[in-house]
Amino acid sequence: MKNIVLLGFMGTGKSAVGRRLATVFHYQFIDTDQVIEEKTHKRVAEIFSEQGEEAFRRLESEAVFDLAERTGCVISTGGGIVLDSKNLDLLQKNGILVLLRCRPEVIFKRVQKRAGQRPLLQKADPLSEIKRLLAEREPFYRRADITLDTSDMNLEDVVQQIKRKVLEIEGRESTA
Ligand code: S3P
Repeated sequence: MKNIVLLGFMGTGKSAVGRRLATVFHYQFIDTDQVIEEKTHKRVAEIFSEQGEEAFRRLESEAVFDLAERTGCVISTGGGIVLDSKNLDLLQKNGILVLLRCRPEVIFKRVQKRAGQRPLLQKADPLSEIKRLLAEREPFYRRADITLDTSDMNLEDVVQQIKRKVLEIEGRESTA
């Protein structure tokens, strides 16, 4: 029972897809941002404004380290988790890395709703910032075992496609 680890930019649907996948697979759902918030008793945006991004990244890596030995979980990660290859090494040891992609314009529209909770997008031109961050993160996305562009898909289709691909990988591994 490998974990299913959801990677991807803010607004690509990791939390919604993750919760639904956890139900479908009867796995526990874990959200790394939530783990950090529970541990620090602070919101992610507060950690960014009070301690800065580097401190947040350290907390994020600690959360990954603590989760590394778990199995049978769906883990929804913060969008920047891919920036540290050690995070991906640990998550991939017991997990299948699933990358959710989206066109920048779709991300822009989706993140409008909770704009105040997205410290990295507090910029004069958030769409350009999304494009810049996506380009910066592109090389790290190649680590994913499964990639899906969710821009034009509904939640249930995304979940079913991931389920099919995960079962395919697990089938391949059990007969290897
Ligand atoms: C971040 C994404 C956020 C959160 C933090 C930084 C990023 O998580 O971890 O604001 O660097 O892309 P979500 O992707 O769950 O919104």
